[in-house]
Amino acid sequence: MQIKKNKLGLLKDHDVTDEKLYLNRRQFVSKAALLATGIALPSVASAVPVIEAPEPKYTDLLTSPFSATEELTKYQSIVSYNNFYEFGVGKQDPAKNTTQFPDKSEPWRVVIDGECDSPGEYDLDDLMKPLSLEERIYRLRCVEGWSMVIPWVGFSLADLLKQAKPNSKAKYVEFNTLYNPQQMPGQQSTVLQWPYVEGLRIDEAMNPLSFIATGLYGNDLLGQNGAPLRLVVPWKYGFKSIKSITQVRFVEKQPKSSWMIATPSEYGFYSNVNPDVSHPRWSQSRERRIGEFLKRKTELFNGYKEQVSHLYTGMDLKKHF
Ligand code: MTE
Repeated sequence: MQIKKNKLGLLKDHDVTDEKLYLNRRQFVSKAALLATGIALPSVASAVPVIEAPEPKYTDLLTSPFSATEELTKYQSIVSYNNFYEFGVGKQDPAKNTTQFPDKSEPWRVVIDGECDSPGEYDLDDLMKPLSLEERIYRLRCVEGWSMVIPWVGFSLADLLKQAKPNSKAKYVEFNTLYNPQQMPGQQSTVLQWPYVEGLRIDEAMNPLSFIATGLYGNDLLGQNGAPLRLVVPWKYGFKSIKSITQVRFVEKQPKSSWMIATPSEYGFYSNVNPDVSHPRWSQSRERRIGEFLKRKTELFNGYKEQVSHLYTGMDLKKHF
């Protein structure tokens, strides 16, 4: 499918994968119902205005050997072509509906608990104090068949997790997004089970590639990208990269993610990028890099095979999709 642009040169909802294909029937009907009842989501007809990249706030970021050297996706695309169902299921809904999110009058609190010796509830500022911010340029491959290259700002997930001192029962890490249907009108719909939940195996979480982003393009994250902090797991499909996190829990049993609950036959726990394992309704062998005309081949583990393939030695990746 050809990349179509509107008058402002902005990407439109249907540029990459037909929405009917990537939303299952229940979600599609739910979106229609949401629009029909007019639940606090403004019209989808108006386009997102051009959002200029602000002057970088962070100029002395550490650089990373894990950073990709490919051309960066344009700032405008990164902040206006999003998936954040708490703010609507259209690609432009998150940019339009997060202008007041997160609520700056309240400090953002994060709970870290479960199987660990130092659980706690922290203000994000306190949580970040001992951590050094760095830039990580990662490829992001969405399960819908599009990809971007994003210069994230943040810190390694392992550095955060180690502060809580996980114990020997901590086999997995579960992440929750904020649950607040007033601030997140999409949570008034049944499109997914809320709050949005994701999980990683502890060794995946501790892998040096796993990252918590608090910014991009040298600035703090905007609401649509998961402010004030979100996960980035670049070798997995983008839906594993949970946004606006309020809870990190060490658990013994494999967590059930929102997508596994919604459509277990389509979304598994691992969700590693794999061109040889098709989604039941479309191939994953190629992808559209946003901003490019021709599709490119999708790489196993999104090109991060060297760093992560050892995590899956002996596992049947078709079975553990
Ligand atoms: N996190 C929450 N809480 N809610 C969501 O709907 N969407 C996921 C992921 N994280 C999502 C989420 C999906 S499907 C993708 S592809 C990425 O966020 C998109 O991140 P981006 O909008 O910053 O590109």
